[in-house]
Amino acid sequence: MEKLLYTGKAKQMWQTDDPEVLRVVYMDQATALNGKKKDHFAGKGAAAKGISDLVFNYLIEHGIATHFIKQLSPTEDLVKKCQMFPLEFVTRNVIAGHFASRYGLKEGKVLAEPVEETFYKSDELDDPFINESATIALGIASHADLEKMWSFCREVNALLKPLFEKAGMQLVDFKLEFGRLADGQIVLADEFSPDNCRLWDLKTDQHLDKDVYRRKLADLTKTYDEVLDRLKGALGKE
Ligand code: C5P
Repeated sequence: MEKLLYTGKAKQMWQTDDPEVLRVVYMDQATALNGKKKDHFAGKGAAAKGISDLVFNYLIEHGIATHFIKQLSPTEDLVKKCQMFPLEFVTRNVIAGHFASRYGLKEGKVLAEPVEETFYKSDELDDPFINESATIALGIASHADLEKMWSFCREVNALLKPLFEKAGMQLVDFKLEFGRLADGQIVLADEFSPDNCRLWDLKTDQHLDKDVYRRKLADLTKTYDEVLDRLKGALGKE
């Protein structure tokens, strides 16, 4: 019998009969302000999952170890169960979002080099910033684990920046999460969709990510469908 393990902001995780395999269900829901704002969007789950599957498969083809096993349906995937690190790894190529507001900067300038920030996952605390020494001192991850995860982030950035450019989009910033498999291997987990990255149209700077919901700019599902179509085109999967 399957058991619901967790309902997140946009996904549900189910324990399957295999102890090492989970079923992920992408919901037709978006949240902002750490869950304080929440709305239903028909078709959003399938669009976000479609994008995330294309990205994860592309990363796997290019040697990145991930939790992904296979698609079950347009809104469901099977993934390997991991012990998740309670950390969010944010990489920024362009000034935007909280990086702009925190330092009083205008959005849009390309950074001289990617900025790497780690946040401690906690809804109650609003995901506070955490540095390397605190992460190690609190036993959340070792220096070697952090090196490994940041090297994954750099590889992902190097692979996805040109992929999104080919699809006519600038990869402004993105958030990754990692977990450890039963055998100890660290793998990329969670998802990669416009829920957790910023994508701007290369020509017009139009927002093609969850900022359209956060800032009430456009229809969320239509926006995600457009990203999915463009990505399929760039990958020759139309
Ligand atoms: O809000 P901020 O500018 O810090 O977000 C940086 C990037 O990380 C954005 O692409 C955002 O969607 C993503 N993010 C996320 N989950 C969070 C915080 C940020 O996916 N809890």
